[in-house]
Amino acid sequence: MIQDMTRRGLLGAALAAPALLPAPARAQAYPSGTVALIIPFAPGGPTDAVGRMLAEAMSRDLGVNVVAENVTGGGGTIGVNRVAQSRPDGQMILLHNIGMATAATLYRSLPYNPLTSFETIGLVTPTPMVWITRPDFPGEGFADMLRFVRENRDRVNLANAGLGSASQLCGTLLQASLGVGVTAVQFRGSGPVFPELMGGRIDIYCDQTTSAIPFIQSRQVKPMAVTTAAPLAQVPGVPTAGQAGLPGFEISIWHGLYVARGTPRPIVDRINLAMRNALKDPRVVGRLNDLGSPPEPEERQTPEAHRAHLAAEIERWRPILQAAGQFAD
Ligand code: MLT
Repeated sequence: MIQDMTRRGLLGAALAAPALLPAPARAQAYPSGTVALIIPFAPGGPTDAVGRMLAEAMSRDLGVNVVAENVTGGGGTIGVNRVAQSRPDGQMILLHNIGMATAATLYRSLPYNPLTSFETIGLVTPTPMVWITRPDFPGEGFADMLRFVRENRDRVNLANAGLGSASQLCGTLLQASLGVGVTAVQFRGSGPVFPELMGGRIDIYCDQTTSAIPFIQSRQVKPMAVTTAAPLAQVPGVPTAGQAGLPGFEISIWHGLYVARGTPRPIVDRINLAMRNALKDPRVVGRLNDLGSPPEPEERQTPEAHRAHLAAEIERWRPILQAAGQFAD
């Protein structure tokens, strides 16, 4: 009887109890096997380039495989949401760029909140952008490109990696600067853009140097201007947009790592340590410098500095994007 009562009592108690929350992962057990590094754009682009460098170096530091996984679509928001929905155990990490901030304005019904759905790990690298054109573009310089855009308007095919991507932001700023609208052609990342650009089906593109430089060096695309305050040694002979016709046209694409909100701080700190060690790895530093995108200074590699920067960038870009009026939903 007692046994029955006990059983019924235990069953009754279990049914009445609130659903058990997943046990918080124990930091000392981290990592518990393969770690996924989600790259929210297609292979072959700038985010993929940085992500695969980080994954390889962090694998060495963490002693497990950190596997880069491209989850594309929605200007990066599909991949971002995958991590927002993941277990808060550090086994799934997101690498994302400035789009983490701009999507907060561009998408009025995001399934996640860039600030409250994630723990920030740290800032990785600020990447310059460079305006490039198809190889048979009728002109040699940025002024020629600006004239082409002013004269051809929506007959100009401008690529981007979706609303919320860095390339889309750069394209939006160009159109706002010129007061001209062009035809925006969306891709799942820079990787798929290059065959269309080299094939002449895309006229112009604003890409990050981390994926554009190899195509510039092999003369498969024409560089027109960089978006930095001073010319880049890694893109020799190419002026800044400011020098070549658009004073003040400067944009740098910052990147950060994130995990799901609620990930225990010891796990956040362990991932941050692996990231910081990766950004000291001579192979990573050398490659990033070759591509014009050095690691962030150490004081910006902390979770707190990253969170403060993200919050500030959401506020910085909101009025600019609202004025441009290009919303995803
Ligand atoms: C990529 O392929 O990583 C995208 O082009 C990045 C972006 O435009 O935000």
